[in-house]
Amino acid sequence: MHGSLSAGRIERLIAEMDLTEKLGQMTMLAASLVVTGPPGPDNPVTLVRTGKVGGILNTWGYDEIREAQRVALEETRLKIPLYFAVDILHGHRTIHPIPLAEACAFDRELWRRTARESAEEATRDGIQMTFAPMLDVCRDPRWGRIAECAGEDGYVHAEYAREKVVGFQSANPDPNRRLLGVAKHFVAYGAVKAGRDYAEVDVSPRALHEVYLPAFKAAVDAGVAGIMPSFTDIAGVAMTANKELLHDLLRVKWGFNGLVISDYNAIAELMNHGVAADLAEAAALALNAGVDIDMMAGAYENGLPIALERGLVTMAQIDEAVTRILRMKHDVGLFDNPLRGLEKVGPTPDNMPGHRASARDAARRSLVLAKNEGNILPLQRTTRRMAAIGPLADAQSEMMGPWCMAGDEREAIGILQGLRESFAGSEVIHSIGAHCTDEVEPELIAEAVEAARASDVVVLCLGELRQHCGEAASRTTPRPSRAQMQLSRAIMALGKPVVLVLATSRPWILPDWMVDGASAVMLAMFGGTEGGHAIADVMAGDYNPSGRLCISWPTRVGQIPVHYNMRTTGRPFDPDNGFSTRFLDSTIAPRWGFGDGLSYSTFQLGEPQADNKIIDQHGVTEIAIDVTNAAGPEGEATLFLFVNDPVALVTRPVLELKDFAKAVLRPGETKRVGFTLSAAQLTYPDFAMEPRLDDGRIDIYIGVSARPEDLKRLSIEVRQTAKARHTELV
Ligand code: NOJ
Repeated sequence: MHGSLSAGRIERLIAEMDLTEKLGQMTMLAASLVVTGPPGPDNPVTLVRTGKVGGILNTWGYDEIREAQRVALEETRLKIPLYFAVDILHGHRTIHPIPLAEACAFDRELWRRTARESAEEATRDGIQMTFAPMLDVCRDPRWGRIAECAGEDGYVHAEYAREKVVGFQSANPDPNRRLLGVAKHFVAYGAVKAGRDYAEVDVSPRALHEVYLPAFKAAVDAGVAGIMPSFTDIAGVAMTANKELLHDLLRVKWGFNGLVISDYNAIAELMNHGVAADLAEAAALALNAGVDIDMMAGAYENGLPIALERGLVTMAQIDEAVTRILRMKHDVGLFDNPLRGLEKVGPTPDNMPGHRASARDAARRSLVLAKNEGNILPLQRTTRRMAAIGPLADAQSEMMGPWCMAGDEREAIGILQGLRESFAGSEVIHSIGAHCTDEVEPELIAEAVEAARASDVVVLCLGELRQHCGEAASRTTPRPSRAQMQLSRAIMALGKPVVLVLATSRPWILPDWMVDGASAVMLAMFGGTEGGHAIADVMAGDYNPSGRLCISWPTRVGQIPVHYNMRTTGRPFDPDNGFSTRFLDSTIAPRWGFGDGLSYSTFQLGEPQADNKIIDQHGVTEIAIDVTNAAGPEGEATLFLFVNDPVALVTRPVLELKDFAKAVLRPGETKRVGFTLSAAQLTYPDFAMEPRLDDGRIDIYIGVSARPEDLKRLSIEVRQTAKARHTELV
């Protein structure tokens, strides 16, 4: 704790502030507006000097931060330090795998560690806040921002949320190395219609409570410093003005005491939504809903004075927001040490000891091996000649994926480089073959075919450019470009063994022939700075793949949304019944589903056992299962624990993830893996969205994926002492 500014002093400071200074604290501006621009009254430095800015986004580094802070401290009337925020989604200088990939590691320690390392680098660069973690559960690969989330499951997001918040905010014992997290985007942004960015959202209260809210609750419980409402609406109520969710739920019911920070220009966009007639109304709606900070809309600065005059808001509300902002600045240590964390000595943020090795470990744990016919992988070290082909083969900067503002692309490792290092005894030739565009260039394909013909194995590296991923990057059909398709056809026609490596930010809709034509398929996504090394490590067998999909890969766009935890229906799929739920022109199962992923080892499960077969509403049962590495090298198994409630008040998902665990096993080794399952984890929202626990049987399924053939079942019974089942119905 930094004790020099007590609550009383914050109050006195607020008493000294004029309205402009208060609204300045409530305003966050982008660095481009603050540190550049011509001299004059609107000169951004003038904005800082006149107290019109409380925090700055998108700048970092010794000189930049020191100069901006100097103006705030030496040239403003009240000498209140600025805070600095950057979108650090998957690494600051050292870039980790994109979140959708890192979630596939199903590794809580890893999630926490990479967040802590991001915080160590970012604080050395003078940053105190990141707009992360991003917690928008998404089942729609058309949405570009799916890259930023942890996949299709709400529980995975809740676990990921806690680890990221702790990793950023409290895992480091040194308070100067802690970064404030801002969980975003509250809430259900991942459900934008048709996956079209910024489009409308219309989800049921049940979907909100079961799927989209739990991650935010977990972030709040872990002490997250801020929450960012999404750009979108929910059922017509714009989130930036959503009092019911921002105030009644977040502040009152959940007791959230931190900052609510608008998204970029989102307050002004309330006019575009058609719910505010002018900036004053927009500002009033946001403040009344509980938004403390206006990012880049100028709405608080220009709209709130008018809103005050019109009686739409009160000074007390403004003071409350300013109090929270000053308290954040105080708690993070800025009043005591305005250059907190910024270092000129010691390791530089882009050269922290151990961070590269850690990033390599993260990238290889995140990679998912989806197909490995005839155990073609790992490749023989004695392979004479290998061809690395495709637009992503030698594309080091693309490996970093979207949102890597301070990452240095010159530091990133491409696939070709990784292969050349790992297969030093082989000749690794390269041919681009195609670009990520639809325009086919026959000469490029011809060259690539020659290279493939002259090789023993082809590593075909397809994917997306990172500028086509992330925000504002929706696609109706996420798939390889036409040029990449033609290239693949030509290469696969040769009949050489093909290892298909997909460097994408999202699930792709692949043609069947492309999957059939590849001997192995690696869903590498974007592994970050060490992406190329990670791919080569797995290909060479230096790492036994352990990633499992946190997101389904549909076979066709028309299947979207497809996810493992669909609800039961009155007519469940039955291959012999045409009037069961199905498509006439496609299977209902995705190509690869949640939990899918291969290892070089074969893991076998024993029969699960529970120490308590009957539990009451306070009960807990310990479940144990043996897992054996039955064939192959040392490897890491991931075990998923799902439940199904067969008779409930409302339809329940066919499977619901409640826990997951890892076990590292030597060849032939057996380990016992334990899970603790409590009655509280078996509740679901009742009609009033309050937790409900049913009496009766609960089926528990444990497996290395969510595929029926991989699951071991056992049942327990819930027997509550008081409340009878279905009381809500009467
Ligand atoms: C807009 C994005 O929606 C949000 O996620 C991000 O934090 C802000 N821009 C600031 O860069």
